[in-house]
Amino acid sequence: MKKNIGSTMALYPTPAIVVGAMVNGKPTWTLVAHIGIPSHDMAMVSLAKAHYINRGIRENKVLSINVVDESWLAKADATGCVSGNKTDKSGMLEYTVGETGAPLANDAKLTMECTVVDVYETPAFENFMVKVNNTFAEESILNEKGDKPDFDKFKPVLFEMPGYTYLRTGETIGKCMSFGKQK
Ligand SMILES: Cc1cc2nc3c(=O)[nH]c(=O)nc-3n(C[C@H](O)[C@H](O)[C@H](O)COP(=O)(O)O)c2cc1C
Repeated sequence: MKKNIGSTMALYPTPAIVVGAMVNGKPTWTLVAHIGIPSHDMAMVSLAKAHYINRGIRENKVLSINVVDESWLAKADATGCVSGNKTDKSGMLEYTVGETGAPLANDAKLTMECTVVDVYETPAFENFMVKVNNTFAEESILNEKGDKPDFDKFKPVLFEMPGYTYLRTGETIGKCMSFGKQK
C-alpha cells in the first residue's frame, strides 16, 4: 500500500554541477543540484536569491555548468560549503575563460558555457534559463565517433534529498525504446 508523504519533492537523484561565473572580474563557484532541461539546447539552474554568485550571473548574463565526477568531488563539494558573501572563492578551482567570458573549471571533464536568456523567479529562488553556447568535453569521455559524451565512460556524481548524499551513476541497462518495442 502506498503512503501519502505529503508535498515532498521526489525528483531525485539529479546531477551535481558547479556553476561558475565572474563577480567583479573574479571567478566564483557554487555547487548546485537543482537543475533542469527545458529544451534540447537550454538548461535551468536554480539558485537561492541570497547566493553570492547570482549577482555576477545577473550582471554578465553568462555562466558555466561544470559537471561533477568523483575525480574532483572534494573540490566541488567545497564550493557548496562556503559562500562568496563571506569567503573569496576565486582561488578554489583552476579555470580557463570561455569565449563568453564565463570561467570554465579545468577539473571538469564536461563543461557547458552558457548565456542567460531568462530568469524565472520564485519567492526565494532565481531560476536562470540558459542557452548552451559551447560544450567542452575531455576526449577520454567521448564516444567512438568523438562527437558526444559516453556515459559508460563518464560518470556524473548524483545528488539526492532529503538524505543530502552523493550517489554513483549506475550501469547501462539497455537502449531506450528497446524494451517497449512491439516484436
Ligand atoms: C550538494 C549540494 C547541492 C546544492 N544545491 C544547490 C542548489 O541546487 N541551489 C542552490 O541555490 N544552492 C545549492 N546548494 C547550496 C550552495 O552551493 C551553497 O549555499 C553555497 O555556499 C552558495 O555559494 P555562493 O553564496 O558563493 O553563491 C547546494 C549545496 C550542496 C552541498
